[in-house]
Amino acid sequence: MSERFTVLVMAAGRGTRMRSSMPKVLHPVCGKPMIEWVIDAARAAGAAEVVCVTRPGDGVAAGLPDDVQVAEQREGEGTGAAVLAARQAVGEAGPLLVLSGDHPLLSHELITGLMKTHRTQGATATILTTEELDPAGYGRIVRDGGGAVDRIAETKHTEGVSEALLAIREINLGTYAFEAGALWAALDEVGEDRGERYLTGVFPLMRERGNTVISHLTRDVSSSIGVNDRVGLMDADRLAQRRILEDHARAGVSFLAPDSVRVEVGVEIGQDTTIGPATTLRGATRIGSGCEIGPGTTITDCVLGDHVTALHSLLTDAVVDDGAWLGPFAYLRPGAHIGEGAKIGTFVEVKNSEIGTRAKVPHLSYIGDTDVGEGANVAAGNITANYDGFAKHRTVIGKEAKTGVNASYVAPVRVGEGAYIAAGSVITEDVPDGALGISRPDQKNVEGYAERVEKERG
Ligand code: UD1
Ligand code: MG
Repeated sequence: MSERFTVLVMAAGRGTRMRSSMPKVLHPVCGKPMIEWVIDAARAAGAAEVVCVTRPGDGVAAGLPDDVQVAEQREGEGTGAAVLAARQAVGEAGPLLVLSGDHPLLSHELITGLMKTHRTQGATATILTTEELDPAGYGRIVRDGGGAVDRIAETKHTEGVSEALLAIREINLGTYAFEAGALWAALDEVGEDRGERYLTGVFPLMRERGNTVISHLTRDVSSSIGVNDRVGLMDADRLAQRRILEDHARAGVSFLAPDSVRVEVGVEIGQDTTIGPATTLRGATRIGSGCEIGPGTTITDCVLGDHVTALHSLLTDAVVDDGAWLGPFAYLRPGAHIGEGAKIGTFVEVKNSEIGTRAKVPHLSYIGDTDVGEGANVAAGNITANYDGFAKHRTVIGKEAKTGVNASYVAPVRVGEGAYIAAGSVITEDVPDGALGISRPDQKNVEGYAERVEKERG
């Protein structure tokens, strides 16, 4: 049984190298803000309590889960100042895991390994390190003649830094286990360097007091990477994306061109579904089994049943039942519900509408605020005029109705069950069940017209 530990997440950095008006830790990696990745890993590793350090008014606290305590870094700059800001919330004693909010891919396995080393070695401080990343910009682990951790040398600024120091490959990953009491005692004495109080300043002080400072070395690059600018963000995103696709692939999903696909964290995909090239699956999307999605399809916050086909389509906040067919070039907007076995075809836009079981809207239509009944067939170029300039109104097309091409429906209006609509009609009044609705001028033929024109032109 592992002991209880508190987690402190440093998330109040200015992150100026992101060149962004948004705090660094809110930048998403595969759709989830960095800070949430870190908190989720801490929870998965069994954290008893999570304290997140934010800047007053930076907007980070607002998005945090309710069970995360917030400590505000009101004064001072640097990681040392961040940790000090949480002193009251964390308490004076016990094991404390300190995490950096800009290491989104840190895994719970790695946290567990670090905590285990810390506990079994009876250390006062244990630093997570690696030799597998490009060390530029990270703090380097400087060891004494006996191989023990001596200090961490920051190498963000390289002027005046010795060759020997820059040759060190072992770096600090900004993840530490501490005995809280010893941490506070040392941190009180850390001074400022370039206007910042560095958390890493505690290690030499701890050593002087005879505390044990050790490291836990990892080779797991994909869990290690830190993000300080948008190049680092791209690297983290690429690694996270690969991890997500591999998890889906292991669960029975095929990716025809994985490098061109984006699947955000949290998206669910059923077995035997194939995801084609240039496809993006986002947000709270859930896709059933045996589907064919893509190429060129973007799905956000949608629920798709089993055996759905979606080719070259854009779907947002829609529900699609089993066996439905979408595209190529279908556009489903919020509130679209496509029934079982229904078809939404080429250049068809559907918004806030119920499309019944087996109903078909195959070509060039706009269906908004409409109920299309079971088995109805909506011909090419049908448009619902749902907006009168002030309010939206509903159109009903009854089940098994068959409409002609280029019909429009001036809502509110109802086409009865099994009714027919003549091509080119503008339907402004209800059509009874089984009736033909026709609303267009009678055709007039002008006999001998061509001959007349020819004569007139001489
Ligand atoms: C830090 C470490 C460095 C390590 C690297 C790993 C120090 C002095 N250096 O450098 O040894 O190799 O992380 O990525 O600790 N933060 C605050 N308040 C602040 C400043 C920072 O909460 O005032 C937070 C940031 O939001 C970030 C974390 O602390 O999540 C690390 O800060 P950052 O400025 O990125 O430090 P690095 O230069 O990367
Ligand atoms: Mg950093």
